[in-house]
Amino acid sequence: MAEMIPREFIELLLAKIDIVDVINAQVPLRKKSGSNYFACCPFHQEKNPSFSVSQPKQFYYCFGCGARGNAIDFLMQYEHLRFPEAIETLARTAGMEIPRSVAQSKQEDSLPQLYDLMALISTHYYDQMRHSQRAIAYLKQRGITGTIARQFSLGYAPNSFHHLLDTFGKTTADQKKLLDTGLIIKKNEGGHYDRFRDRIMFPIADYRGRIIGFGGRILDHGEPKYLNSPETVLFQKGHELYGLYQALKANRKLQRILIVEGYMDIIALFQHGITYAVATLGTATTSHHFQRLFRYTSEIIFCFDGDEAGRTAAWRALQVIFPLMHDNLQVRFLFLPEGEDPDTLVRKEGKPLFEKRLDAALSLSTFFFQTLAQQSDINTLEGRARFASAALVYIKQLPTGTIFQDILLEELSKRARVDIQSLKQQLHTTQVGTMSASSPPERNRQAARTVLHPSIRLALALLIQYPSLLSHLSGPLPQSRLEGAELLSQLIEIIKKNPALTTGTLMEHWREHPDEALLAQLAQWEHMLPEEGIKDEFLGVIRQLTILSIDEEINRLLAKAAQEGLSDEEKLELSAWIAKKKTIIN
Ligand code: UTP
Ligand code: MN
Repeated sequence: MAEMIPREFIELLLAKIDIVDVINAQVPLRKKSGSNYFACCPFHQEKNPSFSVSQPKQFYYCFGCGARGNAIDFLMQYEHLRFPEAIETLARTAGMEIPRSVAQSKQEDSLPQLYDLMALISTHYYDQMRHSQRAIAYLKQRGITGTIARQFSLGYAPNSFHHLLDTFGKTTADQKKLLDTGLIIKKNEGGHYDRFRDRIMFPIADYRGRIIGFGGRILDHGEPKYLNSPETVLFQKGHELYGLYQALKANRKLQRILIVEGYMDIIALFQHGITYAVATLGTATTSHHFQRLFRYTSEIIFCFDGDEAGRTAAWRALQVIFPLMHDNLQVRFLFLPEGEDPDTLVRKEGKPLFEKRLDAALSLSTFFFQTLAQQSDINTLEGRARFASAALVYIKQLPTGTIFQDILLEELSKRARVDIQSLKQQLHTTQVGTMSASSPPERNRQAARTVLHPSIRLALALLIQYPSLLSHLSGPLPQSRLEGAELLSQLIEIIKKNPALTTGTLMEHWREHPDEALLAQLAQWEHMLPEEGIKDEFLGVIRQLTILSIDEEINRLLAKAAQEGLSDEEKLELSAWIAKKKTIIN
């Protein structure tokens, strides 16, 4: 999607609007210090304002929950808009029109049609259910009331290979739409057939209530028990949560959100008054899921089976959530008795007893230490050492400087009987270990990237915050192999092309890029330099980087000299580098 709207347009748009106006229209801002505006953060609950908006940077940042971004991000987060929708909203405010190529306007035009078709089919399946004795009997036998069936638009797909085709796929254009929504499947020998046949249908809505896919359960026994829509332009499993729309509709504010596994669990919980549960769609929970949920709540409770598989799934979820943990978030784990799922349990126990279980769910830190302690014998010295180093690998993944990280370190120090200072030292010096085979590689890379050379870090931070500094740079930046040097030259290239870009606009170039988090962190980093000293600091750090890169060349040649000797040409090169270094130092 990001590629479809020309970048030049986005830059013009961001230059035309003022983030302060955009945010102020939704969240009243108070002027406080210098060019920064403050407010209580709209993305988490707090009493003292830690949400700051910088006018010169055109960037906002919350010191409490880490929410951050430019005007586009604000609308995406605050109004829950998709990227193109946020741009459209801003363009409307600015009185600008989004230029589109023919191909993309065609694609975008078809989206509303696909949403409409999905809504139509959902209603159609619901009507089919109302006329099918077999479907009604099944839902009754599962304890589902008519009210809840209506609320979730539970439906029935008749037992036919061409029911949808006959009803909604009369023309080739209609068939194309059905194909795009994943509701029919192409046959090898030509023609199509219905994906869902003789199944109870669960329409999957996005957070705004638009139907984007279906889950279908078999009525008897058979495989697969649940069939889900494939990924389509409307539906991405790793982003969507079943029941979120209904939960948002039923609650003005969500104190907590419960994450469960199944469609039926959501239905049963809702029917028993637990209206704040969502389910992942046959996938593990992803960081996209968490980021979405943390917009609505500050507490997440996971519900897992009590067996080995459940524990493993919980540990995987913990790994995904660690890098996202901020101090205002709470995450807990509920393990159910063997053989039960939320559906069976809430029907047996009712809401009060089920909520008692929720209240007693394990905290993230308890579950964390409990699991690690099972892997090492903490009664022996070696066991405790192993325990501590395993724990550190994970604790390192937490955002640095959070109180939560401190608390875990303290707890680790007690349990492993290791001095807290030495733990802290190790946390800052050890390389990031491999967490487990299943952890996404991006995260490790991101964490590893934070070990930037201090000069690179400072140069990046100053430039992203004050892009105009670049005009003071006379020559090109020398090549360097230091971590982050490439990112620095990318940043420089972009500013060179357009020296008037603000921080907020620059960040657009890294949307959904592995370096996005790192740059955003540097964009709000408080350097504590007096305004008038910033230019000299920048020139100083560039000088430092130049010296470092010369040292790299000198060291490379010296190493070669020691091992295999240098050619005459290389000897000249070496003395040239040494001479160059002298002129810079003096
Ligand atoms: P379960 O097998 O635990 O089923 O799958 P369930 O939710 O308890 O369903 P009932 O009570 O037997 O009707 C949990 C979830 O995993 C996904 C579905 O999202 C399901 O709700 N799943 C399961 C599939 O996608 N495909 C399958 O074949 C099975
Ligand atoms: Mn079940």
